[in-house]
Amino acid sequence: MPLRDLKNARCLVTGASMGLGRALTQELCHRGARVVFAARSADKLREVADRLIASGISSDAVLPFPADLTNPEDRADLLEYTSEAFDGALDLAINNAGIGAYGRFESHDETITRRLFEINVLALMEMCRGVLPLLRRGHRPALCNIGSVVGRRGLPGRSEYSASKFAVAGFTEAIRAEWARDRIDVLLLNPGFTATEFEKNLLVDTAIYKTDQRRTMTASSVALATLHALEQGRSEVTLSLPGRLLLLVNRISPRFVDWGLSRWTKRLYADSAALARVESPARSL
Ligand SMILES: NC(=O)c1ccc[n+]([C@@H]2O[C@H](COP(=O)([O-])OP(=O)(O)OC[C@H]3O[C@@H](n4cnc5c(N)ncnc54)[C@H](OP(=O)(O)O)[C@@H]3O)[C@@H](O)[C@H]2O)c1
Repeated sequence: MPLRDLKNARCLVTGASMGLGRALTQELCHRGARVVFAARSADKLREVADRLIASGISSDAVLPFPADLTNPEDRADLLEYTSEAFDGALDLAINNAGIGAYGRFESHDETITRRLFEINVLALMEMCRGVLPLLRRGHRPALCNIGSVVGRRGLPGRSEYSASKFAVAGFTEAIRAEWARDRIDVLLLNPGFTATEFEKNLLVDTAIYKTDQRRTMTASSVALATLHALEQGRSEVTLSLPGRLLLLVNRISPRFVDWGLSRWTKRLYADSAALARVESPARSL
Protein backbone atom coordinates (compact mmCIF):
# COMPACT_ATOMS: atom_id res chain seq x y z
CA MET A 1 0.00 0.00 0.00
CA PRO A 2 1.50 3.42 -0.96
CA LEU A 3 2.00 6.02 1.74
CA ARG A 4 -0.99 8.22 2.61
CA ASP A 5 -0.55 11.61 0.95
CA LEU A 6 -1.76 14.47 3.14
CA LYS A 7 -1.54 17.06 0.34
CA ASN A 8 -5.06 18.40 -0.26
CA ALA A 9 -6.40 16.20 2.56
CA ARG A 10 -9.53 17.55 4.24
CA CYS A 11 -8.75 17.53 7.96
CA LEU A 12 -10.32 18.30 11.33
CA VAL A 13 -8.10 18.89 14.38
CA THR A 14 -9.41 19.55 17.89
CA GLY A 15 -7.58 21.33 20.69
CA ALA A 16 -5.74 23.47 18.16
CA SER A 17 -5.43 26.83 19.91
CA MET A 18 -2.04 25.84 21.40
CA GLY A 19 0.33 22.94 22.07
CA LEU A 20 0.17 19.77 20.04
CA GLY A 21 -3.10 20.63 18.22
CA ARG A 22 -1.65 23.91 16.98
CA ALA A 23 1.53 22.15 15.82
CA LEU A 24 -0.54 19.48 14.01
CA THR A 25 -2.60 22.17 12.29
CA GLN A 26 0.52 24.04 11.21
CA GLU A 27 2.26 20.90 9.88
CA LEU A 28 -0.87 19.79 8.00
CA CYS A 29 -1.31 23.22 6.38
CA HIS A 30 2.35 23.30 5.37
CA ARG A 31 1.86 19.91 3.66
CA GLY A 32 -0.97 21.33 1.56
CA ALA A 33 -3.92 20.02 3.60
CA ARG A 34 -7.08 22.02 4.31
CA VAL A 35 -7.80 22.12 8.02
CA VAL A 36 -10.81 22.91 10.17
CA PHE A 37 -9.35 23.42 13.64
CA ALA A 38 -11.21 23.91 16.89
CA ALA A 39 -10.79 24.90 20.54
CA ARG A 40 -12.60 27.19 22.97
CA SER A 41 -10.34 30.28 22.64
CA ALA A 42 -11.50 32.13 19.51
CA ASP A 43 -8.72 34.72 19.77
CA LYS A 44 -5.96 32.10 19.95
CA LEU A 45 -7.43 30.20 17.00
CA ARG A 46 -7.49 33.46 15.04
CA GLU A 47 -3.80 34.04 15.88
CA VAL A 48 -2.93 30.56 14.58
CA ALA A 49 -4.91 31.24 11.39
CA ASP A 50 -3.36 34.71 10.85
CA ARG A 51 0.15 33.34 11.29
CA LEU A 52 -0.48 30.55 8.78
CA ILE A 53 -1.97 32.95 6.23
CA ALA A 54 0.95 35.37 6.76
CA SER A 55 3.34 32.48 6.03
CA GLY A 56 1.76 31.99 2.61
CA ILE A 57 -0.97 29.38 3.27
CA SER A 58 -4.19 30.09 1.37
CA SER A 59 -7.01 31.37 3.58
CA ASP A 60 -9.27 28.67 2.01
CA ALA A 61 -7.12 26.05 3.73
CA VAL A 62 -7.19 27.62 7.19
CA LEU A 63 -10.56 27.21 8.87
CA PRO A 64 -10.67 28.04 12.62
CA PHE A 65 -13.86 27.21 14.49
CA PRO A 66 -14.36 28.10 18.19
CA ALA A 67 -16.12 25.29 20.07
CA ASP A 68 -16.31 23.82 23.55
CA LEU A 69 -16.27 20.13 22.76
CA THR A 70 -17.99 19.23 26.01
CA ASN A 71 -21.06 21.09 24.71
CA PRO A 72 -23.19 18.92 22.36
CA GLU A 73 -24.46 21.98 20.44
CA ASP A 74 -20.91 23.22 19.81
CA ARG A 75 -19.94 19.73 18.60
CA ALA A 76 -22.93 19.64 16.24
CA ASP A 77 -22.05 23.13 14.90
CA LEU A 78 -18.42 22.11 14.38
CA LEU A 79 -19.43 18.98 12.48
CA GLU A 80 -21.90 20.91 10.33
CA TYR A 81 -19.28 23.55 9.55
CA THR A 82 -16.75 20.83 8.64
CA SER A 83 -19.25 19.04 6.44
CA GLU A 84 -20.13 22.26 4.60
CA ALA A 85 -16.48 23.24 4.20
CA PHE A 86 -15.55 19.86 2.69
CA ASP A 87 -18.74 18.91 0.78
CA GLY A 88 -19.76 16.23 3.26
CA ALA A 89 -16.45 14.35 3.32
CA LEU A 90 -13.40 14.22 5.56
CA ASP A 91 -10.05 12.48 5.00
CA LEU A 92 -8.53 12.89 8.48
CA ALA A 93 -9.92 13.62 11.95
CA ILE A 94 -7.55 14.16 14.89
CA ASN A 95 -9.09 14.14 18.36
CA ASN A 96 -6.40 15.94 20.31
CA ALA A 97 -8.26 18.25 22.77
CA GLY A 98 -7.52 17.14 26.31
CA ILE A 99 -6.71 18.28 29.79
CA GLY A 100 -4.93 16.86 32.85
CA ALA A 101 -5.19 16.74 36.64
CA TYR A 102 -2.21 16.01 38.89
CA GLY A 103 -2.04 14.97 42.51
CA ARG A 104 -3.10 12.15 44.81
CA PHE A 105 -6.57 10.76 44.07
CA GLU A 106 -7.62 11.15 47.71
CA SER A 107 -6.91 14.89 47.61
CA HIS A 108 -9.36 15.46 44.71
CA ASP A 109 -13.11 15.03 44.42
CA GLU A 110 -15.67 13.71 41.97
CA THR A 111 -16.01 16.99 40.05
CA ILE A 112 -12.41 16.62 38.81
CA THR A 113 -13.03 13.08 37.57
CA ARG A 114 -16.26 14.09 35.82
CA ARG A 115 -14.78 17.15 34.14
CA LEU A 116 -11.74 15.22 32.99
CA PHE A 117 -13.81 12.39 31.54
CA GLU A 118 -16.17 14.87 29.88
CA ILE A 119 -13.42 16.37 27.75
CA ASN A 120 -10.86 13.55 27.46
CA VAL A 121 -13.33 10.70 26.94
CA LEU A 122 -16.97 11.64 26.29
CA ALA A 123 -16.28 14.54 23.93
CA LEU A 124 -13.70 12.45 22.05
CA MET A 125 -16.10 9.51 21.71
CA GLU A 126 -18.94 11.73 20.50
CA MET A 127 -16.63 13.42 18.01
CA CYS A 128 -15.80 9.94 16.66
CA ARG A 129 -19.52 9.21 16.27
CA GLY A 130 -19.96 12.56 14.52
CA VAL A 131 -17.06 12.29 12.06
CA LEU A 132 -17.76 8.70 11.00
CA PRO A 133 -20.29 9.54 8.22
CA LEU A 134 -17.90 12.20 6.88
CA LEU A 135 -14.89 9.86 6.98
CA ARG A 136 -16.89 7.19 5.15
CA ARG A 137 -17.05 9.58 2.20
CA GLY A 138 -13.37 10.56 2.51
CA HIS A 139 -10.36 9.56 0.45
CA ARG A 140 -8.17 6.96 2.28
CA PRO A 141 -9.75 8.17 5.52
CA ALA A 142 -8.03 8.07 8.89
CA LEU A 143 -8.82 8.87 12.49
CA CYS A 144 -6.20 9.68 15.10
CA ASN A 145 -6.97 9.77 18.82
CA ILE A 146 -4.35 11.28 21.10
CA GLY A 147 -3.80 9.04 24.10
CA SER A 148 -0.78 9.07 26.40
CA VAL A 149 1.96 6.84 27.79
CA VAL A 150 -0.07 6.99 31.03
CA GLY A 151 -2.99 5.51 29.07
CA ARG A 152 -0.95 2.30 28.79
CA ARG A 153 0.61 2.30 32.28
CA GLY A 154 -0.99 4.09 35.22
CA LEU A 155 1.29 6.47 37.11
CA PRO A 156 0.89 7.76 40.67
CA GLY A 157 -0.26 11.37 40.90
CA ARG A 158 -2.06 10.96 37.55
CA SER A 159 -4.89 8.60 38.54
CA GLU A 160 -7.89 10.33 36.93
CA TYR A 161 -5.85 11.38 33.89
CA SER A 162 -4.43 7.84 33.47
CA ALA A 163 -7.94 6.40 33.75
CA SER A 164 -9.27 8.78 31.09
CA LYS A 165 -6.44 7.92 28.70
CA PHE A 166 -6.91 4.16 29.33
CA ALA A 167 -10.52 4.74 28.27
CA VAL A 168 -9.30 6.46 25.09
CA ALA A 169 -6.96 3.51 24.36
CA GLY A 170 -9.66 0.87 24.86
CA PHE A 171 -12.23 2.80 22.86
CA THR A 172 -9.76 3.42 20.01
CA GLU A 173 -8.84 -0.30 19.80
CA ALA A 174 -12.53 -1.22 19.69
CA ILE A 175 -13.49 1.17 16.90
CA ARG A 176 -10.37 0.28 14.91
CA ALA A 177 -11.90 -3.15 14.35
CA GLU A 178 -15.42 -1.77 13.81
CA TRP A 179 -14.26 0.81 11.28
CA ALA A 180 -11.99 -1.55 9.34
CA ARG A 181 -14.95 -2.55 7.13
CA ASP A 182 -15.20 1.13 6.09
CA ARG A 183 -11.44 1.08 5.39
CA ILE A 184 -10.84 3.85 7.92
CA ASP A 185 -7.36 3.63 9.50
CA VAL A 186 -7.47 4.28 13.24
CA LEU A 187 -4.30 5.48 14.97
CA LEU A 188 -3.73 5.74 18.71
CA LEU A 189 -0.86 8.16 19.35
CA ASN A 190 0.62 8.07 22.85
CA PRO A 191 2.90 11.03 23.51
CA GLY A 192 5.30 11.10 26.45
CA PHE A 193 6.19 14.30 28.31
CA THR A 194 5.91 17.11 25.74
CA ALA A 195 6.71 20.80 26.24
CA THR A 196 3.31 22.51 25.76
CA GLU A 197 0.87 24.53 27.86
CA PHE A 198 -0.50 21.27 29.29
CA GLU A 199 0.88 21.77 32.80
CA LYS A 200 -0.44 25.36 32.96
CA ASN A 201 -3.92 24.19 31.93
CA LEU A 202 -4.32 21.39 34.51
CA LEU A 203 -7.75 21.21 36.17
CA VAL A 204 -5.94 20.79 39.46
CA ASP A 205 -2.31 20.35 40.51
CA THR A 206 -1.68 19.09 44.02
CA ALA A 207 1.29 16.93 42.96
CA ILE A 208 4.53 17.15 44.94
CA TYR A 209 6.59 15.85 42.05
CA LYS A 210 6.81 18.36 39.18
CA THR A 211 7.46 17.18 35.65
CA ASP A 212 7.95 20.48 33.80
CA GLN A 213 11.73 19.89 33.56
CA ARG A 214 11.14 16.46 32.03
CA ARG A 215 9.21 17.67 28.98
CA THR A 216 11.93 16.97 26.45
CA MET A 217 9.79 16.43 23.32
CA THR A 218 8.50 19.50 21.48
CA ALA A 219 4.96 19.88 20.15
CA SER A 220 6.33 20.09 16.64
CA SER A 221 8.36 16.84 16.95
CA VAL A 222 5.25 15.04 18.25
CA ALA A 223 3.19 16.51 15.38
CA LEU A 224 5.77 15.36 12.81
CA ALA A 225 5.82 11.86 14.31
CA THR A 226 2.00 11.76 14.29
CA LEU A 227 1.77 12.73 10.63
CA HIS A 228 4.50 10.23 9.78
CA ALA A 229 2.51 7.49 11.55
CA LEU A 230 -0.62 8.51 9.61
CA GLU A 231 1.28 8.49 6.31
CA GLN A 232 2.52 4.98 7.13
CA GLY A 233 -0.94 3.75 8.17
CA ARG A 234 0.29 2.74 11.66
CA SER A 235 -2.25 1.68 14.29
CA GLU A 236 -0.45 2.70 17.50
CA VAL A 237 2.66 4.72 18.20
CA THR A 238 4.19 5.57 21.58
CA LEU A 239 6.58 8.48 21.71
CA SER A 240 9.65 9.36 23.75
CA LEU A 241 12.35 6.88 24.68
CA PRO A 242 11.51 6.90 28.42
CA GLY A 243 7.83 6.32 27.56
CA ARG A 244 8.65 3.36 25.32
CA LEU A 245 11.08 1.94 27.90
CA LEU A 246 8.47 2.21 30.66
CA LEU A 247 5.91 0.33 28.59
CA LEU A 248 8.46 -2.32 27.59
CA VAL A 249 9.52 -2.99 31.20
CA ASN A 250 5.87 -2.94 32.26
CA ARG A 251 5.01 -5.56 29.63
CA ILE A 252 7.82 -7.83 30.81
CA SER A 253 7.24 -7.32 34.54
CA PRO A 254 4.32 -5.15 35.66
CA ARG A 255 5.00 -6.20 39.26
CA PHE A 256 8.50 -4.78 39.06
CA VAL A 257 7.10 -1.43 37.85
CA ASP A 258 4.46 -1.54 40.63
CA TRP A 259 7.22 -2.15 43.16
CA GLY A 260 9.43 0.66 41.82
CA LEU A 261 6.60 3.20 41.66
CA SER A 262 5.36 2.28 45.15
CA ARG A 263 8.84 2.68 46.64
CA TRP A 264 9.33 6.00 44.86
CA THR A 265 5.93 7.30 45.96
CA LYS A 266 6.50 6.24 49.59
CA ARG A 267 9.87 8.00 49.62
CA LEU A 268 8.39 11.12 48.01
CA TYR A 269 5.62 11.42 50.58
CA ALA A 270 7.97 10.56 53.46
CA ASP A 271 10.18 13.48 52.36
CA SER A 272 7.18 15.79 52.11
CA ALA A 273 5.99 14.77 55.59
CA ALA A 274 9.48 15.54 56.96
CA LEU A 275 9.48 18.88 55.15
CA ALA A 276 6.06 19.73 56.59
CA ARG A 277 7.42 18.99 60.10
CA VAL A 278 10.39 21.34 59.53
CA GLU A 279 8.14 24.07 58.09
CA SER A 280 5.66 23.85 60.99
CA PRO A 281 7.81 23.60 64.16
CA ALA A 282 4.70 23.89 66.31
CA ARG A 283 3.74 20.41 65.18
CA SER A 284 6.90 18.85 66.61
CA LEU A 285 6.44 20.39 70.03
N1 LIG B 1 1.89 17.63 26.90
C1 LIG B 1 2.12 16.36 27.26
O1 LIG B 1 3.11 16.05 27.93
C2 LIG B 1 1.14 15.29 26.83
C3 LIG B 1 1.54 13.95 27.03
C4 LIG B 1 0.68 12.95 26.65
C5 LIG B 1 -0.53 13.26 26.05
N2 LIG B 1 -0.90 14.55 25.88
C6 LIG B 1 -2.21 14.82 25.27
O2 LIG B 1 -2.02 15.62 24.10
C7 LIG B 1 -3.19 16.38 23.87
C8 LIG B 1 -2.81 17.84 23.66
O3 LIG B 1 -2.24 18.33 24.85
P1 LIG B 1 -1.22 19.54 24.90
O4 LIG B 1 -0.02 19.05 25.59
O5 LIG B 1 -1.09 20.17 23.58
O6 LIG B 1 -2.00 20.48 25.92
P2 LIG B 1 -2.41 22.04 25.84
O7 LIG B 1 -1.25 22.84 25.37
O8 LIG B 1 -2.99 22.35 27.18
O9 LIG B 1 -3.55 22.08 24.73
C9 LIG B 1 -4.82 21.51 24.97
C10 LIG B 1 -5.78 21.96 23.87
O10 LIG B 1 -7.08 21.41 24.15
C11 LIG B 1 -8.05 22.46 24.04
N3 LIG B 1 -9.21 22.18 24.89
C12 LIG B 1 -9.22 21.93 26.22
N4 LIG B 1 -10.49 21.77 26.65
C13 LIG B 1 -11.28 21.93 25.55
C14 LIG B 1 -12.69 21.90 25.35
N5 LIG B 1 -13.56 21.68 26.36
N6 LIG B 1 -13.17 22.10 24.10
C15 LIG B 1 -12.31 22.35 23.08
N7 LIG B 1 -10.98 22.38 23.19
C16 LIG B 1 -10.47 22.17 24.43
C17 LIG B 1 -7.29 23.72 24.49
O11 LIG B 1 -7.82 24.91 23.93
P3 LIG B 1 -8.81 25.91 24.68
O12 LIG B 1 -8.35 26.08 26.09
O13 LIG B 1 -8.70 27.14 23.84
O14 LIG B 1 -10.15 25.28 24.56
C18 LIG B 1 -5.93 23.45 23.82
O15 LIG B 1 -5.97 23.88 22.46
C19 LIG B 1 -4.11 16.14 25.06
O16 LIG B 1 -5.08 15.17 24.74
C20 LIG B 1 -3.16 15.61 26.12
O17 LIG B 1 -3.83 14.79 27.05
C21 LIG B 1 -0.09 15.59 26.25
